[in-house]
Amino acid sequence: MSHSANNQNIPRHVAVIMDGNGRWAKKRLMPRVMGHKRGLDTLEEMCRICSNAGVEYLTVFAFSTENWRRPEDEVSFLMGLFLTALEKKVAKMHANGLRVKVIGDRSHFSPAIQKGIVAAEELTKNNPGLTLTVAADYGGKWDIIQAANALIAEGKTQITESDLSTKLMLAEAPEPDLFIRTGGETRISNFMLWQMAYAEFYFTDVLWPDFNETEIYRAFESFTQRERRFGRTSEQLPIEQQRP
Ligand code: FPP
Repeated sequence: MSHSANNQNIPRHVAVIMDGNGRWAKKRLMPRVMGHKRGLDTLEEMCRICSNAGVEYLTVFAFSTENWRRPEDEVSFLMGLFLTALEKKVAKMHANGLRVKVIGDRSHFSPAIQKGIVAAEELTKNNPGLTLTVAADYGGKWDIIQAANALIAEGKTQITESDLSTKLMLAEAPEPDLFIRTGGETRISNFMLWQMAYAEFYFTDVLWPDFNETEIYRAFESFTQRERRFGRTSEQLPIEQQRP
């Protein structure tokens, strides 16, 4: 497959639920956590591929507010992986000119992780490349509520859509154009609820550690083929966006 950089059919912002790590490991008779370890490698690879393709924002769901309910040893492995990623992978990403951001409620993470997050964001904030945003202890409902509370704190009693949009996590990024969920489930699972109002949804049975360049280009291809109307009729769209 040949892939050209900066293709106009490449989404600007891709959001991903990286599902299927546990099943990937189980199929290989390995502990579930080995799937997460491989999942981190896949994430690193996806940053490289998306960056080369011309994607500007890649936002991934690494840990949901519900994930704290997982067995204690799995939660602590994920926390360890998060810390390793912050300590080791971020340096590489910085060298490649990527920006790293973390969204979610940081207060439940260890002081070491919290410090790592601040350091990673600070180190990479002026980089020109793709912005990788990791959603950790994040929930879409939580995001909307924190935005509303920020407006209340400013004394607002009536709010508009744009007021709320400016207080959401990731307010500075365009909304996701393409949402990918691997691992066969077809749910949004409380990911970016508000921001994905117009995103194209792409679901695949491929498990996250198996997701690769061919698979993401399948998702891009599917994105390109769909008509994005934002509520208009196809006749109202510019000629190049109308169906033949
Ligand atoms: C879902 O698979 C995946 C997660 C809950 C964790 C995702 C984390 C990574 C890919 C690690 C890399 C990210 C960082 C920033 C450390 P699952 O466990 O629900 O899989 P299953 O549905 O097969 O059980």
